[in-house]
Amino acid sequence: MDTVDLKTTAQSLVARGKGILAADESTPTIKKRFDSIQVASTDASRQAYRELLFTAPGVEAFISGVILFDETLRQTAANGTPFPQLLADRGIIPGIKVDRGAKSMAGFPGEKITEGLDGLRERLDEYRQLGARFAKWRAVITIAHALPTNANIQANAHALARYAALCQEAGLVPIVEPEVLMDGDHDIDRCEAATARALQAVFDALFHQRIDLEGILLKPNMVISGLDCPEQADVETVAARTVHLFREVGPAAVPGIVFLSGGQSSRAATAHLNAMNALGPQPWELSFSYGRALQEDTLKTWHGDPARIAEAQKVFHQRAKCNGAARYGEYSTAMEDMAA
Ligand code: 13P
Repeated sequence: MDTVDLKTTAQSLVARGKGILAADESTPTIKKRFDSIQVASTDASRQAYRELLFTAPGVEAFISGVILFDETLRQTAANGTPFPQLLADRGIIPGIKVDRGAKSMAGFPGEKITEGLDGLRERLDEYRQLGARFAKWRAVITIAHALPTNANIQANAHALARYAALCQEAGLVPIVEPEVLMDGDHDIDRCEAATARALQAVFDALFHQRIDLEGILLKPNMVISGLDCPEQADVETVAARTVHLFREVGPAAVPGIVFLSGGQSSRAATAHLNAMNALGPQPWELSFSYGRALQEDTLKTWHGDPARIAEAQKVFHQRAKCNGAARYGEYSTAMEDMAA
């Protein structure tokens, strides 16, 4: 393993003005997204949609890397270029989702543990050969009555750290993603408490598994009200509390914190990131690794219609540009109305 490479890749992924596109929806998840626009999920429709995203003109100014699903890493563009190479040729770093999904945790009703460690070393070697330079593993933490439990937090943290060690051995930057879900009517205080517990456990486990923190990226949720909470914290509160928590628990050696959108609207996700960056310099880059918040409008515009690809690409460019501006704290809602 070349630790210099890992650091360089991690830093490139959080280059100023840029962030990551999470386009690694598993086959069941992309089906859900396609169902929402009444498009059948087939090999061909998934390929066409991903090609739309990856060839969108100009997005390399705002997109540093793309997380792919196994199927997509092996697919090619219509002209025969493998997707990882197409991205790399544009200066966009290809990444790969390597976990095998969050499954019910035995003995802990309502909680999930992420699987995928068995055989991971061999899979990582193959992914690197196919062009991936970073990886993602998502752990899911649920807030509910008496949840999350410590056992669930510890089990997920341990798996994340084992995954991170295997990635660094293979020369891939691990994106470490402990996601405290927004689902529920909990308030922002409970989100903050659960997020703090999860992050403390994760960094403890990373330390024990001898992870080089300069060669990882952290992909957390923001400190935010539950989706069904009657009192929603405003943008400034979310930004201030999120940054405060990360200053408490996020080691300065980590090059970047790349937030997930987790069910926030596209505009809310951009506004939150913007408000955080407007608070001034922090020990780490504060960036995005959005799935839904980057793709929602694009998906709706496309609607499975080849005639709308160019229009959908403009919408994607516009969304990426807004998030690029949010990296500097320079986004304003007026940008939403400007032509791409
Ligand atoms: P969302 O931004 O839609 O939460 O997706 C990010 C992601 O990669 C979740 O693992």
